[in-house]
Amino acid sequence: MKFFIDTANLAQIKEANDLGILDGVTTNPSLMAKEGIKGEAAIMKHYKDICEMVDGDVSAEVFSTDFAGIIEEGQKLAAIHPNIVVKVPMIKDGVKAIKWFTENNIRTNCTLIFSAGQAILAAKAGASYLSPFLGRIDDSNWDGIQLIEQIRHIYDVQGFRTEILAASIRNALHIVRAAEAGADICTCPLDSILGLLKHPLTDIGLAKFLEDAKKTEG
Ligand code: E4P
Repeated sequence: MKFFIDTANLAQIKEANDLGILDGVTTNPSLMAKEGIKGEAAIMKHYKDICEMVDGDVSAEVFSTDFAGIIEEGQKLAAIHPNIVVKVPMIKDGVKAIKWFTENNIRTNCTLIFSAGQAILAAKAGASYLSPFLGRIDDSNWDGIQLIEQIRHIYDVQGFRTEILAASIRNALHIVRAAEAGADICTCPLDSILGLLKHPLTDIGLAKFLEDAKKTEG
């Protein structure tokens, strides 16, 4: 399973990248707004900076919701760097645009996925990545992991090549369960990635080893 970081924060991207385990980055309009990035020029520059920092795919989301707007915006984003993947919402014009991008060799990430039916449509249109939102499904008292399992099954049975990118990750357990369910990629906030490191017995064990190591000093 590949690891993407789900942020537009350059310091956090650097910290995850320095760990040596980062395969890519995902962003969305909310994450860009959180960093205070405003205006087309600043947005383009920010994506360029991310692409130069990380050796992997970077999802850049369109703000338009009509076919012509999505295509125009997506082409501009894709021109920034070969690693840019155009992120398109699961709406009627979005599906149409994903098909257009596929035919024109522009890779896409279909976002805001909450059902298996949406996953089938996105794959039919040729999306490179599919983003089911685990955390938001769990928040609404449904089972996000069950959706990943269902999509994995459908894609395997049907031979769809769209990669399943588990998104809206809230904690380290989500990452482990997405891996079990067969997600191809997990996009996670930095805290969830670092949460994988933690186990109290590791801390207790290390403290004891360090204490005993002192006894071996000559
Ligand atoms: C990433 O591609 C998604 O936009 C993101 O994971 C959504 O996460 P949230 O539900 O925590 O906002």
